[in-house]
Amino acid sequence: MRKGLFACAAAGSLILGGLTACGDDGGSGSGGSDTGKVGVILPDTKSSARWATADLTYLKQAFAAAGVTADIQNAQGDKTQFQTIAEGMISSGVKVLMIVNLDSGTGKAVLDKARTAGIATIDYDRLTLDGGADYYVSFDNVKVGELQGQGLADCLAAKKYPKPVVAELNGSPTDNNATLFAQGYNSVLDPKYADGTFTKGPNQDVPDWDGAQAATIFEQMLTENRTIKGVLAANDTLGNAAIGILKKNKLNGQVPVTGQDATVQGLQNILAGDQCMTVYKAVKKEADAAAELAIALAKEQKPSTATSTVKDPTSGKDVPSVLLDPQSITKDNVKAVVDDGYVKAAELCVPQVAKACTEAGIS
Ligand code: BGC
Repeated sequence: MRKGLFACAAAGSLILGGLTACGDDGGSGSGGSDTGKVGVILPDTKSSARWATADLTYLKQAFAAAGVTADIQNAQGDKTQFQTIAEGMISSGVKVLMIVNLDSGTGKAVLDKARTAGIATIDYDRLTLDGGADYYVSFDNVKVGELQGQGLADCLAAKKYPKPVVAELNGSPTDNNATLFAQGYNSVLDPKYADGTFTKGPNQDVPDWDGAQAATIFEQMLTENRTIKGVLAANDTLGNAAIGILKKNKLNGQVPVTGQDATVQGLQNILAGDQCMTVYKAVKKEADAAAELAIALAKEQKPSTATSTVKDPTSGKDVPSVLLDPQSITKDNVKAVVDDGYVKAAELCVPQVAKACTEAGIS
């Protein structure tokens, strides 16, 4: 009964904030008398398919399996909503707050409020610069970028274009991960621009990782530079936007495009021959690692898993962290993502790519 009362109290405070009750979109479980509730704020549902599918599902599962009550909400890309959700969670008495920030400024404001209220904090996937979160769980994001740079270099080498012009569509300028991805891919591409293997083309940030803006930006790039022969797109959403414009110009398949997140769309683009590669990040591992930390903190135990540290470049502080390993995916190993249970064959292998699926050994 204790659990029911607790869940209702939490839902009540959220209804006051005009938001969904925690029972509707959060996991729930028997909290036990000394286990606190966990609040999780995911960023949006558009910048990548992962947030509304993989992260939500795996986090819910992890908290439910541990019998810890979790209120998981999505800010829908709205910074005001992000803050309202956080305030609701803080006043509902969460013991742990886990966030994927929409930018470091609003993320920090929320983390500061939580800290003042004595709540433990976790940066999930994106580091909040100067945010002072207690823990950070993510992937090695520079490595993600290196895989993208190397993937594009390999695809371009296979095409044998002389000095191909490479365009870069970077992620959101307010996402520290986008900075790290760019650091990674430019560490591969810059030497190739310098030695003349590739020609440096247009390079632009895409606000909020927004696919529609990416399409507009890339269309402009292509109009001004018809010789673009490769696109370093920082995730599958941006990659798909570029592919849409390439299709319009009958150039898809001739211009390798990168991605990230191993989304169904990205993998289908790979199978169709329109996308060169994506980066698979095993979100289940990330969600499990973050949930494990949160559960320990909710039980007022000292977590033992965050054994490495990441330096917050703004504050200079070392943040105890868990950093996981990303994996490069090309046409040759799309199957690995399916085998890992991240994407279902039935969802991936729609008629347009059914033949490619069979060839890739996916059934
Ligand atoms: C995440 C990526 C995601 C992007 C857009 C980044 O912070 O690490 O996985 O594609 O945000 O949501």
